[in-house]
Amino acid sequence: MAAMLAIRVVVGLAAAALAAVLLEHYGLAGQPSPLPQPRASRSPHPAPGPGASNIFWGLQISDIHLSRFRDPGRAVDLEKFCSETIGIIQPALVLATGDLTDAKTKEHLGSRQHEVEWQTYQGILKKTRVMEKTTWLDVKGNHDAFNIPSLESVENYYRKYSAVRRDGSFHYVHSTPFGNYSFISLDATPNPGPKRPYNFFGILDEKQMEELLLLAKESSRSNHSIWFGHYTTSTILSPSPGIRSIMSSATAYLCGHLHTLGGLMPVLHTRHLQGTLELEVGDWKDNRRYRIFAFDHDLFSFADLVFGEWPVVLITNPKSLLYSCARHEPLERLLHSTHIRVLAFSLSSITSVTVTIDGVHLGQAIHLSGPIFILKWNPRNYSNRTHNIEVTVQKKLGEDVKGIMTGDELLISLLSEVGSLKENLKDSAGRSKSVHHLFSVQEDIHLRFDPLASFILLTDHCIVAQGDPNDELESIL
Ligand SMILES: *[C@@H]1O[C@H](CO)[C@@H](O)[C@H](O)[C@H]1NC(C)=O
Ligand SMILES: *[C@@H]1O[C@H](CO)[C@@H](O)[C@H](O)[C@H]1NC(C)=O
Ligand SMILES: *[C@@H]1O[C@H](CO)[C@@H](O)[C@H](O)[C@H]1NC(C)=O
Ligand SMILES: *[C@@H]1O[C@H](CO)[C@@H](O)[C@H](O)[C@H]1NC(C)=O
Ligand SMILES: [Zn+2]
Repeated sequence: MAAMLAIRVVVGLAAAALAAVLLEHYGLAGQPSPLPQPRASRSPHPAPGPGASNIFWGLQISDIHLSRFRDPGRAVDLEKFCSETIGIIQPALVLATGDLTDAKTKEHLGSRQHEVEWQTYQGILKKTRVMEKTTWLDVKGNHDAFNIPSLESVENYYRKYSAVRRDGSFHYVHSTPFGNYSFISLDATPNPGPKRPYNFFGILDEKQMEELLLLAKESSRSNHSIWFGHYTTSTILSPSPGIRSIMSSATAYLCGHLHTLGGLMPVLHTRHLQGTLELEVGDWKDNRRYRIFAFDHDLFSFADLVFGEWPVVLITNPKSLLYSCARHEPLERLLHSTHIRVLAFSLSSITSVTVTIDGVHLGQAIHLSGPIFILKWNPRNYSNRTHNIEVTVQKKLGEDVKGIMTGDELLISLLSEVGSLKENLKDSAGRSKSVHHLFSVQEDIHLRFDPLASFILLTDHCIVAQGDPNDELESIL
């Protein structure tokens, strides 16, 4: 099964190379869109400085697959995530992007809704009181919709046991004193919900597209909008002008569904022609992945993480060049910023946050408040080309120190290396963590995404796979 998938992916690689050449040829600059335009503020201020305001952060978790038959650890760890991880990170909101439950039969081949899986999910949300600590926004995945004859059916347990409990897409605004931030959910689960393996693809009809367009327009006064949903856009069937055009005013679309393709693609990130980032996050089910994202002075940054690994580190200024988009963000603020800014979270206290650029030691960032660390810098010193910023966070040896890595952890960390997650565990005891990325204060430099990831996320697989539900893929998801 995995071998078959590997062959498919290798074949895909050739196609991806071709696709990359074509994309290049036709220009990644993008075509004009008749839809709501991005509204990047052109104002260089407020620019990242020494203040504790103008910043908030959230988390994403996806493909939890709580199961009555398999791996009870998914539920045990989710409970710890809701209490410990959320207690430490204190996100403004959490996006749970579908496949909350597994909904498979005992033999694993068929599908059906199990009320007890939903009760486990709701039980964890209630027991940990996570909804009192943060805003928990959950959407349905294909597994949550298996075998549901209609939305009114009692088997539509999402209505009874989820946090949101309302079918369809919605618009949530996170209001702060420094701006409004829109979060738009995308529910593309088919209705009625077919059984396995016939709902690998999401579907949107004309009416749903109109509703989504309305939500997009509603959000146009917000500083930013983030869309989130279960399916990648490549696995959603939608009428013209297509779902990517409808969400083109979004800074990013956060999704799940493809897990890590059985470990082959630990990083699935790309950018639409319209500039919107599409960021698939690895699954909770087998890989215990989650994501932190932040808006710092209206600059978007994120990091993909593994549950239980501390410290968690995110450099919010200067942000990563690969994920920068002048159409959606006020990138000139990098050049006007006075401080490097880092979010660092840990179970035990943090002893140092060290910054280097291009291998040159810049100094220790000082603690501002909460998880925010800052270091004065002069961005004009980096006005040419691209530069590599590296931040190393050391923490006290606390009770959370882990022993030698288990085989799984080693595998995950190797895969992360291969997938150039751009993070590496400095030492396996978890005493320190380094993250690094390329940045540029020049706006006319661009980096390209992994062509294979772009191929997987940007090809309309519904069309490619017509009449041939992708069985191998289906069986691992
Ligand atoms: C958010 O948008 C408002 C209105 O455009 C603007 O005044 C404010 O500075 C923005 N917030 C940030 C953090 O840039
Ligand atoms: C956020 O939205 C509210 C309601 O539309 C508006 O009154 C307020 O001025 C906005 N805040 C900012 C900082 O733009
Ligand atoms: C900027 O560069 C100048 C000259 O190369 C150097 O003296 C100064 O310390 C640098 N400033 C910062 C903040 O890195
Ligand atoms: C930028 O590049 C030019 C030419 O390569 C060089 O002369 C100049 O010193 C560089 N400036 C900085 C700030 O590195
Ligand atoms: Zn899934």
